[in-house]
Amino acid sequence: MLVIEDNPVDAELTIRLLKTAGYDVTYKRVETKAEMEKALQSRSWDLFLSDYSMPHFSVQTALGLYQFYKCDSPFIVVSGAIGEDKAVELINAGVNDYLMKDNMTRFIPVVERELRETRNHRNLLNVTYALASSEEKYRSYVENAPDVVFLADLSGNFVEVNEAACRITGYTRDELLNMSVLHMITEESLVVAKEMFSRMKSTGTLNADLEVWHQNGSKRWIAVDAIQLSRSLFLGFTKDVTERKNAINEVLKTREELQRFNQYLMDARENERASVAMEIHDELGQALTAIKIDLKWVMENLSDSAKSFQKINRIIEMVNETIKKVQRISAELRPGLLDDLGLATAIEWYSGEFEQRTGINCILMLEELPDGDGRINLTLFRIFQEALTNVIRHAQAHHVKINLKYRENEISMTIEDDGVGIPADKISSGKSLGLIGMRERAKQINGTVVFMKKYTHGTKIVIRIPIPTHEPESL
Ligand SMILES: Nc1ncnc2c1ncn2[C@@H]1O[C@H](COP(=O)(O)OP(=O)(O)OP(=O)(O)O)[C@@H](O)[C@H]1O
Ligand SMILES: [Mg+2]
Repeated sequence: MLVIEDNPVDAELTIRLLKTAGYDVTYKRVETKAEMEKALQSRSWDLFLSDYSMPHFSVQTALGLYQFYKCDSPFIVVSGAIGEDKAVELINAGVNDYLMKDNMTRFIPVVERELRETRNHRNLLNVTYALASSEEKYRSYVENAPDVVFLADLSGNFVEVNEAACRITGYTRDELLNMSVLHMITEESLVVAKEMFSRMKSTGTLNADLEVWHQNGSKRWIAVDAIQLSRSLFLGFTKDVTERKNAINEVLKTREELQRFNQYLMDARENERASVAMEIHDELGQALTAIKIDLKWVMENLSDSAKSFQKINRIIEMVNETIKKVQRISAELRPGLLDDLGLATAIEWYSGEFEQRTGINCILMLEELPDGDGRINLTLFRIFQEALTNVIRHAQAHHVKINLKYRENEISMTIEDDGVGIPADKISSGKSLGLIGMRERAKQINGTVVFMKKYTHGTKIVIRIPIPTHEPESL
């Protein structure tokens, strides 16, 4: 405490009062301007007590110094009677309170009150300062953020925008503050935007990729994340994702084109096969049959040579064999059975041929669909053919089990062998063109193919194809 007082006895009196009230007091008494100035320079003080008038000093000068040194601790005047006017003058000049020496009952409560208020005031100042500096920090983060940060009302009108908003949209801050988010969105994205917007009003968040107009008339893609802050405001974060979006669209377009091209190639191959099969069957088959008939005639009209007879008989057998081969080749190219008698019959026929050729036993559990879809049947048949070819080439199997099932909305086919099992790395390898072809065929009709190495031994392939449901046509 700094006591500005010429009378040491008076000073002691106040110290004693404070000590009695429980204060641990350290103090210095000054009675001139020079002494006070030295005291102010030496340290800070928690409390100032000042007499009104002293021989070499006055309260006004003391208060002037106190203010000059920007002190904020309580300054209390304790003096003899000075009259109300002067007391009011003192308070107006910045003194915290005024007490009379002969009535010190208010002294302790006043000191307590003033110390408390100073403390509160300092706390408030600290908080205000901290707030102001954190707001400033926050503002500078937002302002310098690389992405758009904006506040808007629930009709979409911008309330605040940062620098990035101007850069990405091409509008000035003032222009943006007179615009609505919705005005910038292209017609194509507007439906999505409005739906997202109304959903945000119930969920409190929004997340969408939208196409917007740039001020220069070009279109940009932005990714928006927003949260509702209050009943009337939402906070949005936006990134320009045009490049990314264009790249993705390009990839999707290329993929679609590839798929269409693939489909075209497969169709072309199937058509080619069908026509080659027909040519072989009809032209070669008929020619061979004609040769056979002629040979029979020659044989019947042959006079007596047993040798010639035998020879011609062998030729007829060879022609018969060739006719069978021609039939098999044309059937493999495009099994007419498939179109005429359905998938199960075609699989049965092919398995019979397969068994004869390879000695691998085929176990069939086949259900036939009453009115099979030609495209689905052909796809499943080709996958089945490819799978059996792999069994011959890689499996070292003794048995193959083929299961064909029809359910209300799905056809499934499983092909299981008891061979060495397909290596896991081959299943996902980009070099397994046979497997990729099977998957691709199934994908063309929205189906899937899964390859598994069985826990015991052998390989299992599961093919699932959804059966398109024929929706009743709407009016
Ligand atoms: N049933 C099976 N049992 C064991 N391994 C198999 C079986 N089917 C496929 N594989 C393995 O998977 C690999 C990939 O098969 P995929 O049909 O893609 O190629 P490929 O038969 O070698 O050649 P291609 O392109 O002529 O069909 C095969 O090389 C083989 O190692
Ligand atoms: Mg293969």
